[in-house]
Amino acid sequence: MHTMRHSQRIGLELAKAARAGLRAGWATGRTARPAVRAGARWYSAPGTQTVKLTAESYPQLERDTRFARVTAEDMAAFEAMLGAGQVVTGADAEGYNIDTMRKYKGQASVVLRPRTTEEVAAIMRHCHARRLAVVPQGGNTGLVGGSVPVFDEIVVSLALMNSVRAFDPVSGVLEVDAGCVLETADQYVAEHGYIFPLDLGAKGSCHIGGNVATNAGGLRLLRYGSLHGTVLGVEAVLADGTVVNGMSRLRKDNTGYDLKQLFIGSEGTLGVITGVAVLCPRRSAVVNVAFFGLESYEKVQQAFVRAKGELQEILSAFEFMDQEAVEHVGKMSGHLSPLDDKHRFYVLVETSGSNREHDEDKLQTYLEGLMENDVIADGVLAQDETQLRSLWNLREGIPESLAKSGGVYKYDVSIPLNELYQLVDDTRTHLAEQGFPTATEGSPVVNVVGYGHLGDGNLHLNVAVNRYNKAVEAALEPWVYEWIQKRSGSISAEHGVGFAKKNYLHYSKDQGMIDLMRQLKVAYDPQGILNPYKYI
Ligand code: FAD
Ligand code: MLT
Ligand code: ZN
Repeated sequence: MHTMRHSQRIGLELAKAARAGLRAGWATGRTARPAVRAGARWYSAPGTQTVKLTAESYPQLERDTRFARVTAEDMAAFEAMLGAGQVVTGADAEGYNIDTMRKYKGQASVVLRPRTTEEVAAIMRHCHARRLAVVPQGGNTGLVGGSVPVFDEIVVSLALMNSVRAFDPVSGVLEVDAGCVLETADQYVAEHGYIFPLDLGAKGSCHIGGNVATNAGGLRLLRYGSLHGTVLGVEAVLADGTVVNGMSRLRKDNTGYDLKQLFIGSEGTLGVITGVAVLCPRRSAVVNVAFFGLESYEKVQQAFVRAKGELQEILSAFEFMDQEAVEHVGKMSGHLSPLDDKHRFYVLVETSGSNREHDEDKLQTYLEGLMENDVIADGVLAQDETQLRSLWNLREGIPESLAKSGGVYKYDVSIPLNELYQLVDDTRTHLAEQGFPTATEGSPVVNVVGYGHLGDGNLHLNVAVNRYNKAVEAALEPWVYEWIQKRSGSISAEHGVGFAKKNYLHYSKDQGMIDLMRQLKVAYDPQGILNPYKYI
């Protein structure tokens, strides 16, 4: 990787050198986008600390006595409708009860693993008739405790429904089972020259059904938009077992209500998603990644505005991280910053296009302009696929590195850009005032970091603690949500509401909207058996 430190003199020399085709400092990228970025299975926090039952952590919660308990007759019915290995009980059910951040733990004794939509329908018909509560589960990578039971709800795991159903190489429409792993789908379409329009750090584990159920945002939203635009069709099974076949492959269809939109972001509360049709764009042949340091949040914003103006159609990601996040991922996960000096902020910019000379010229001019105008202090440009991956690994490794601390309070928020980072500074001050200074002996707060999808106005505020701590939680909530409400932000930009934010929906939605959501919930799931104790 080529690096250079900023000074006006060097900046100008660089500009000259670059125009002369020389490789001084920022060198031009020479890499086509790898078919896929390395995507190991998402690491789950180490099990050194026992996970408390959610019902014990929140003793005010009570099991809804209207739900039946699973009986021997129910088990016999499930065994009859499903094949060998599809009904999981006892110790084998443990992993399905604990969320990926090891914060929540349910008490399900039964996990059902259907292979077909018909099997999902049979399960739901039975559970509806018996009023048995159900939690749909995908890859269990969700970050708000939505994918695990609270009490003894039955887990319906989509893990065995993992096939690609069809792909049309002319339109780019991919049809998959809901349990298809995101990375598998991306690899599949890559072979045809396409790209899955969603990408996120958990790609090696999360399911497309789970992505749709959470309306996941991720690293490519800036370029390809949200799933509300790219998902063309959804097949789902309602609470009573009715199969709703909305597997449209059409970009345009104005016949009545667009009901699939309701399933996008419904977090398992309206139906079990069994199939998804997604419009995939063409994969870009030329991809470049630059990583640079900046000394103020003001400069981060300037770099973003200029990226939109100067990189325009080739801009495919604009991710930012603060110094604390970058140091944390270096220390805990070994993904080190390639820059020699420390900087207050870091930005990862990715461009994706089709014309190498054109793209590199644009990126080079953009970077030179930033240096000449003192916006950036230092930076690198990936020279090959390995370097490109290592820059992305640094960014994508941040959540995992935070989880390694012992516990982490995660706030995934939308805030108007000019105030976005203020929340991180204010949180540090607020926690110190409440008796929880950061990284101080005796304080449970290990680190307070900010990073996220700046291009989408989405901040990830994370408070890493040595173990989950009710007093820290009480200092943060609802304080953080009030802070966001005052700025007309959203308390969930992408991870959803789930269990973690179920009491705080009103900070982002007015009562009229919450009432309408409740009416929809009743219409879709009159007995309330789908993912109870969460969301709505
Ligand atoms: P699960 O965790 O299993 O479930 C999540 C919710 O969806 C639950 O409420 C569950 O009931 C419901 N659900 C799951 N499958 C179905 C189904 N078939 N039908 C109905 N309901 C269902 N999110 C982002 O938006 N952007 C990111 O950049 C991002 N990065 C992440 C990085 C890491 C390392 C991790 C661990 C998580 C990240 N996430 C991100 C969180 C994100 O929500 C998930 O990774 C993903 O979308 C969830 O998919 P899943 O299959 O694991 O769903
Ligand atoms: C991310 O952007 O890395 C994800 O949303 C996960 C997280 O914030 O922890
Ligand atoms: Zn994110």
